[in-house]
Amino acid sequence: MNKNPSNQIPNLKPIDPYLETKIITINPNEFKSEELYEAAEIIQKGGLVCFPTETVYGLGANAFNPTAINQIFKVKGRPNDNPLICHISDYEMLNTLTNHVSENAKKLMKKFWPGALTIVFPRHPNVPSETTAGLNTVGIRMPSNRIAFELIKYSKVPIAAPSANLSTKPSPTIGKHCVDDLNGRIEMIIDGGKCDIGVESTVLLMTEECPVIVRPGGVTLEMLREVIPETRVYKVSTNVEMEMKPPTPGMKYRHYAPSVDTIVVVGNKKSDKIVELSKMYKLKGKKVGVVCWSINQLDCDCFRKIDGDEYKGMAQHLFVNLRDLDGKVDIILIEGVDEIREGLAVMNRAKKAAVEIVEAN
Ligand code: TXA
Ligand code: MG
Repeated sequence: MNKNPSNQIPNLKPIDPYLETKIITINPNEFKSEELYEAAEIIQKGGLVCFPTETVYGLGANAFNPTAINQIFKVKGRPNDNPLICHISDYEMLNTLTNHVSENAKKLMKKFWPGALTIVFPRHPNVPSETTAGLNTVGIRMPSNRIAFELIKYSKVPIAAPSANLSTKPSPTIGKHCVDDLNGRIEMIIDGGKCDIGVESTVLLMTEECPVIVRPGGVTLEMLREVIPETRVYKVSTNVEMEMKPPTPGMKYRHYAPSVDTIVVVGNKKSDKIVELSKMYKLKGKKVGVVCWSINQLDCDCFRKIDGDEYKGMAQHLFVNLRDLDGKVDIILIEGVDEIREGLAVMNRAKKAAVEIVEAN
């Protein structure tokens, strides 16, 4: 198996000239506004800054600067038909990005902003088509992480930001993983510690009568239904034509994958199965990593047990473990969770990372 990530990312080109990336560390619970001024200046001048949010780290640029937006696609090796989410810090910024906010959207914004909910609005004509990948809609969210929020505020423009990983790799949720992917490719990385939620925001289409989740994330279906009971999850169709034109372009692409083989185990007997698979791979001479929440002990090379609530816990620790175990082991076994609450997002990401889903009943 090819273990060199840059060789696995088809669109990844070297950045020329090589950039000296400034890496700064900021304590998200206690910082002075001055600590963010240089980052805000970089954004205003058309540069790229990687910053923490409550979901995952983002790779940000001025949403209204097409050259800076193109650079995001280049730095990540991202296909340019996959639109970016615009991050705002106030409602004036919202009005520069869209001129139609429905009553349902207002209800959701009131309840979930700032937070892990991206709402898809009709696009304001001033938003560059580079940012929305040519769509006539735009995804917008107001982040709650103080560093992200204040950075947008001082930049005085909406910040368009995809997750800060190189395309196809799992999203970074700690500063080190941003440095691994982006050092030498952008102007600045802000290390603001661990992201609280650990998976990306929920992307919600509001173009139909009822809201449709096209990417499950930090704000759960259950939470959304408390505000709008008709909210539903987009069901992936088996119709090939539909799959070529999904409601969110991100659905088309392979995502979240470490370069080692990853297996997700589900079903009533999943913990027994993980023990059995781990033994089997070890006998074959493979190094095994296990990410689980209900198994207390296991003989493997890297054992990562998530404590506390399995839904929130697996969300917080899935990406960080996938990235950390990549290169340390030959095979990663993930214990599945029920597809409820944050478990819906966890299983969506885990299944996309997996080469195989094993059902143990
Ligand atoms: O939590 C997050 O959402 C993080 C942080 C940095 O905010 N961002 C993030 O961005 O995950 P990205 O680019 O990795 O994923 C954005 C997803 C993609 O699947 C994209 O297709 C979808 O949102 N999206 C963006 N704009 C859209 C639009 N106008 N219509 C439908 N889907 C859209
Ligand atoms: Mg992403």
